[in-house]
Amino acid sequence: MDGVTLLSDYKPYPFEIASVSLTFRLDPAATRVLATLDVTPRQPGADMVLQGEDLTLISLSLDGRALVPGDYLLDETGLTLPAAGLPAGPFRLQTEVEIAPAANTALEGLYMSNGMYCTQCEAEGFRHITFYPDRPDVMSRFHVRIESDLPVLLSNGNPVGQGPGWAEWDDPWPKPAYLFALVAGDLRATSGSFTTRSGRKVDLNIWVRPGDEDRCDFALGALARSMTWDEEAYGREYDLDLFNIVAVDDFNMGAMENKGLNIFNSKLVLASPETATDTDYERIEAVIAHEYFHNWTGNRITCRDWFQLCLKEGLTVYRDQSFTRDVRLGGLKRIEDVAALRARQFREDAGPLAHPPRPDRYKEINNFYTATVYEKGAEVVGMLASLLGPEGYRAALDLYFDRHDGQACTIEDWIKVFEDTSGRDLSQFKLWYTQAGTPKLTVTEAYENGTYTLEVSQTTPPTPGEEVKPPRHIPLAVGLLSPNGDEVVPTTVLELTEARQSFRFEGLAARPVPSLLRGFSAPVILDRATTPAEQAFLLAHDTDPFNRWEAGRTLARQTLMAMARGEGAQLDYLDAVGRLIADEEADPGFRAACLRLPGEDEIAAALFARGDTPDPDAIRAARRKLMKMLATRHGAALTRVYDSCAVTGPYSPDAGPAGRRALRLAVLALLTTEDGGARAAALFAEATNMTESIGALNLLVAEGKGQGQLAAFAARWSKDPLVMDKWRMAQGALTPPEDAAETVTRLGTAPEFDWKNPNRFRSLLGGFAANHAGFHRVDGAGYALYADWLLRLDPLNPQTAARMSTAFETWRRYDTTRQAHAKTALARIAATPGLSRDLAEMVGRLAG
Ligand code: BES
Ligand code: ZN
Repeated sequence: MDGVTLLSDYKPYPFEIASVSLTFRLDPAATRVLATLDVTPRQPGADMVLQGEDLTLISLSLDGRALVPGDYLLDETGLTLPAAGLPAGPFRLQTEVEIAPAANTALEGLYMSNGMYCTQCEAEGFRHITFYPDRPDVMSRFHVRIESDLPVLLSNGNPVGQGPGWAEWDDPWPKPAYLFALVAGDLRATSGSFTTRSGRKVDLNIWVRPGDEDRCDFALGALARSMTWDEEAYGREYDLDLFNIVAVDDFNMGAMENKGLNIFNSKLVLASPETATDTDYERIEAVIAHEYFHNWTGNRITCRDWFQLCLKEGLTVYRDQSFTRDVRLGGLKRIEDVAALRARQFREDAGPLAHPPRPDRYKEINNFYTATVYEKGAEVVGMLASLLGPEGYRAALDLYFDRHDGQACTIEDWIKVFEDTSGRDLSQFKLWYTQAGTPKLTVTEAYENGTYTLEVSQTTPPTPGEEVKPPRHIPLAVGLLSPNGDEVVPTTVLELTEARQSFRFEGLAARPVPSLLRGFSAPVILDRATTPAEQAFLLAHDTDPFNRWEAGRTLARQTLMAMARGEGAQLDYLDAVGRLIADEEADPGFRAACLRLPGEDEIAAALFARGDTPDPDAIRAARRKLMKMLATRHGAALTRVYDSCAVTGPYSPDAGPAGRRALRLAVLALLTTEDGGARAAALFAEATNMTESIGALNLLVAEGKGQGQLAAFAARWSKDPLVMDKWRMAQGALTPPEDAAETVTRLGTAPEFDWKNPNRFRSLLGGFAANHAGFHRVDGAGYALYADWLLRLDPLNPQTAARMSTAFETWRRYDTTRQAHAKTALARIAATPGLSRDLAEMVGRLAG
């Protein structure tokens, strides 16, 4: 097939590369890369295929003998050395190539960002650096020499020598090329150290541009906390004497786990109370942890091929989520993770891009760093943990590290360690990895003579290319509450394996209220006839924090759906919110999560799922109206909370104060619909931290106000692009729909807007994609604008253009007018000559 890679075509690489030695002579326009590969043939008669793209070959030699064009085949994908010309035993291959980092706007391979050199090699960036078997199952020892006049020269592993204009690095751990990294620039370190529990002293450095040093302390602390946690929770210690993190301003993703030299998007390192929000702090800590945890789950044990990506990403997301649950408020973190999963992954699974956590074909691997691989991949690991219990999970992981250290593995290897340690057959469970789609559980119940019966059936709707969906193995955590609110059956994990199953609970004095899918024990959609009164009861009494929130969320969603169809608001919901506002016992962060209404996209998805055609304008109006109703009905209580929960004293990003600020802002969001923005304007004026400053500004912008505050904010922060991204995001996402497209165009054409920087582009256009009624405007202006920008970005940065095209994932939900506009926009993109493989694959799937 044209340009399709298939899982079933996997073959081991026929050569072993014990070591590779690289020399970089850095120059913006003409960097020379000299590579020496020590090769041992593993299969007689095999050609040696080396990937290489956009490389100018300078010279090539085998065991010191120069090769000439007749000795090899060179095309735009790489270099092939025919078997006939290769020795039967070990040999040495040397290449010299020239590349141009300053011209590299795709930000894959070696590129420049603000005068500094850096690399991004996952998934297939190394082939833009030199000719090499650029696949994760080829693991080799890397020795690196960097020649440059820049003051700081870094690579993986340990420094082994340096002098004026050069430095050498050696990484003792064999690794695939995607974990290679090089950084050179004028950088400053914030340093610390960590002693592992077996006594190894590790130097820690956070490297940033001069001037940013005062915003690194939090990241350094987060790194040390991550190292401690991985020792305690997984028994994993760090394995080098040095751990470097570098912040770069131009970066396609969040961060990258290169061995001993993690490279981060600067927005995920730099934090100060004035410039970063509470959410930024939490995210920075989580991403530092994530990349650090990859040292074992990704680096020491890597992936055999890119189809196995969720082996490292799903597991490492599960690990970083567990870490944050442990170091912050566990219940609240679970709520945030599930809300994100539903907003991104359920949406993906319900649309044209649906795919399994382990896909079996792709055209461009960059397009598979998805919510399904990451977030659903993490849920699948979480289900294994709940099926086996904490000890069973730990035993399986111990065996995984023991058995597979130093290897490039598959999902089959992973499942086998769970089977071998538990003695269970997990072949049905494996469907979670190999099939797409979100299962739906339909639950009915009966109560008679003290016996309560739950009848559960499961179905999974078809997804593109997958019609048949056999039943899955699903852990369903349930508890039962008595009518007075006591828990009569504590959390029990039921195991579903069949299309239809029933479960009996005996000896109950009265008909219980079930609390189903506690902690969101499986990534499924639960369908059960329930009443608003029952949801209000669970919101008040459930012992499971996730299900308390879920009950409130369900009430809110149902009210909003009814209102969007022109019906009235439910009193049960309004009253339940009133009780929650007044509930001083409940954690403030949790109350804030409960007070935030479902977003417009979530309401649209829910309406579409029940067969309605969502109207973005009606949804927006309903949501605003409900906020106003809450503010009118509970104004006095809301004002009391607002006035009493101000956080005083020095700023701390900890969960306690952050939760109080979140509650105060959630309350302010409601009050702002009624007070003309007076309180938000006052908060903006007196704010001493970014959480409150941008929080207040967001609310004003959403009211179509805040012009003065936007100008004041810009005047103060114009020299800080990361802070200005929040300003752009606010306007892209929250400007009322009638003005949104025009605002985005104005900001996008302003002289200070460098749209080649992924952070700039994502803040403005990503914000706009989240402006539900603005993006889905009925005249098609939102889609047209978005398509214009994708086409402008694609020639320079295909990876980011392709990722952002997922804004078009939901167009089939809407009316025929909107659909026609969306199809026109997608067709216009598809018909553009010279489209990147990345964006071409995406628009093909989105339109298909
Ligand atoms: N390995 C990835 C980074 C990556 C992704 C490189 C795609 C190349 C292509 C890294 O570990 C990662 O997953 N980063 C996430 C953040 C993380 C906390 C989920 C990211 O960059 O968004
Ligand atoms: Zn990762």
